[in-house]
Amino acid sequence: MKLEEVLALGENFKRELSAITNAKALEELRVKYLGRKGGKLTEILSSLKNLSVEEKRKIGPAANALRGKIEAALENKAAEFEGAAVMGDLDVTMPGKKIETGHLHPLTLLENRIREIFLGMNFSVVEGPEVESEYYNFDALNIPAGHPARDMWDTFWLKHSAKGGMFARPNSQSEFGLGQKLLLRTHTSPMQIRYMKKHQPPLQIIVPGRVFRFEATDASHEINFHQVEGLMVGKNISLANLKFVIEHFFRQLFGAKTKIRFRPSYFPFTEPSLEVDIEWKGDWLEVMGAGMVHPSVFENVKYPKGTQGFAFGLGLERLAMIKYKIDDVRLFYSGDLRFIKQF
Ligand code: DAH
Repeated sequence: MKLEEVLALGENFKRELSAITNAKALEELRVKYLGRKGGKLTEILSSLKNLSVEEKRKIGPAANALRGKIEAALENKAAEFEGAAVMGDLDVTMPGKKIETGHLHPLTLLENRIREIFLGMNFSVVEGPEVESEYYNFDALNIPAGHPARDMWDTFWLKHSAKGGMFARPNSQSEFGLGQKLLLRTHTSPMQIRYMKKHQPPLQIIVPGRVFRFEATDASHEINFHQVEGLMVGKNISLANLKFVIEHFFRQLFGAKTKIRFRPSYFPFTEPSLEVDIEWKGDWLEVMGAGMVHPSVFENVKYPKGTQGFAFGLGLERLAMIKYKIDDVRLFYSGDLRFIKQF
């Protein structure tokens, strides 16, 4: 045997290896060279013992080195095929899978926008309880029991009356306001009272929140819906300030060219009271109640005589229906994903 034979075997192996394209052929190649029985290199290695000392010294190291090289080369190639097996299923030209993202509910989107606009005018955002006492929801807002205006709010009365705590009638004999009748608030206006009891003017707040009315549902009525209340109190706050703030708000929300109309109206807690309309696709739509806070309301929160301020209240669903072209208020609470996914 000659050294040249060993070197030639190495060359052959290299050539054959470069033509291998799959794991099965690779295994066959391994057997051909390193197989226990009949492997080409194996045979050379096992015949070394028959060689003369001189030949052994020449060929032995070369044959052993070749074994190391072949083993390493086989291993490398096998690793290549393994990687390819994983990549084999991946067709990079296939359309990707769409990742489902969540959607904000249109009422949340609109409320966020409203918060943003009023924060931009330096209003604070506060929230209040959905279960209210008769005092905050009605009496303190100048709507005493028996007042005909109570009919404006179809009320869900609760069975149990207040045991105290936050439902306490301020300054009543018992600090717990025992016996106060409880209800689901029919509007966000009671927060005007709660806030003014704790803060002195100047103040400017909005109060987003859920309200409840005991009425039959149809495309434009729901038993629960959302309002945003507004209140601004301070020195010399006048109807001009009300007009500016409300116009600025609607123009931010619906566009700079939005036309706004103020009509006289009636609410027990404002004097004068206004209804605000916006022009939308050729029609005037009623979108908000407002007015100058009634002196009796200020009296109920112990503000000094002559205090001035304005208030307003809007229905979130109604504005969302206009803004997003939704024709049935019940869709907001349907839980139907086909509806939500459009926003
Ligand atoms: N609370 C009234 C309602 O639910 C809306 C409203 C009107 C609120 C005039 C106000 C206001 O603050 O000034 O119908």
